[in-house]
Amino acid sequence: MPSSLRIGLIGSRGQLGQELVRRFSEPDLSSGVDLQALDRPSFDITDPASLAGLAGAKLDVVINTSAYNAVDAAETAVRECFELNAFAPLFLARACRDAGTALLHVSTDYVMSGGIHEEEQIPYPEEAPTRPLSVYGLSKATGERLVMEAWDRAWIVRTCGLYGGSGSGQKGGNFVTTMIRLAREGKPLRVVSDQRVGPTAARDLAHGIARMVTEPLPYGLWHLTNGGHVSWYEFAEKIFALTRLSPELTPIPLAAYRPVAPRSPFSVLSNEKAHRAGIVLPSLESALEEFLGRNGLIPS
Ligand SMILES: NC(=O)c1ccc[n+]([C@@H]2O[C@H](COP(=O)([O-])OP(=O)(O)OC[C@H]3O[C@@H](n4cnc5c(N)ncnc54)[C@H](OP(=O)(O)O)[C@@H]3O)[C@@H](O)[C@H]2O)c1
Repeated sequence: MPSSLRIGLIGSRGQLGQELVRRFSEPDLSSGVDLQALDRPSFDITDPASLAGLAGAKLDVVINTSAYNAVDAAETAVRECFELNAFAPLFLARACRDAGTALLHVSTDYVMSGGIHEEEQIPYPEEAPTRPLSVYGLSKATGERLVMEAWDRAWIVRTCGLYGGSGSGQKGGNFVTTMIRLAREGKPLRVVSDQRVGPTAARDLAHGIARMVTEPLPYGLWHLTNGGHVSWYEFAEKIFALTRLSPELTPIPLAAYRPVAPRSPFSVLSNEKAHRAGIVLPSLESALEEFLGRNGLIPS
């Protein structure tokens, strides 16, 4: 790592952004990293003037965590979704190229859909062809492609089912905090049991991303999730076992949940490439326990 790595972080107040700020402030990194938050209103990724400003910022790396994340709303807000998830990353990648700044762009498991991987329960490696089912997935897959075409000093990091302290601003929380809130409200819960995912703690992803940009790892496509996979129903069971909440919990098929945006029944990402590079995030069980414990959600 250079004596001080200058990093610009787009979306520092978001679920992942907050964990990146925390990670880069930790003693082993803080003296070697000069972190600059790139947030609205002074920095808007869709504003050409903000992107033009990167030329004079003398950054080594830009990390882009911004996204149009409202998966169901995206089905009817196609232009807005593509503007933030596809075109803005393209213009950002070009601005980074012109400034000689490396770019780390965050993407999603929604670029994948079941097929042979679902039938055989094989997590997707990075080289698996994308086949998004939803507008959100299509916009993110397009964004990945445009970034990679525009700038060869880019990492694309795909992850899944993020949960962090404050939850996603746009989604109004995350799966873990939503389950706990609804259980405390005494609501009966119907949770999808035939969709397999790899939920990931934003804190662990932030650790992986920090290593990727500081070591640095080779540019290109990377999958980074906590280890293992579950159905959302199984994940809810784990949450309630640890928090000792006992809501009325019923498994339902994805078809009965009928989300506005189609979901893949299997979108588990393989972490093999990251493992070979020495980045191994904790298992999803220990990540969940750590998150709940740190937030005072495990009764003593
Ligand atoms: N959440 C998940 O379950 C999940 C799963 C897989 C992948 N991902 C990907 O992970 C990344 C981070 O997700 P997250 O959950 O941390 O999202 P988040 O909590 O919704 O945060 C998004 C951040 O982007 C910022 N932002 C939005 N529009 C912007 C704009 N025009 N210009 C500058 N900043 C803008 C927001 O700023 P404000 O603070 O101003 O609102 C916010 O800080 C995204 O790329 C997402 O697609 C998320």
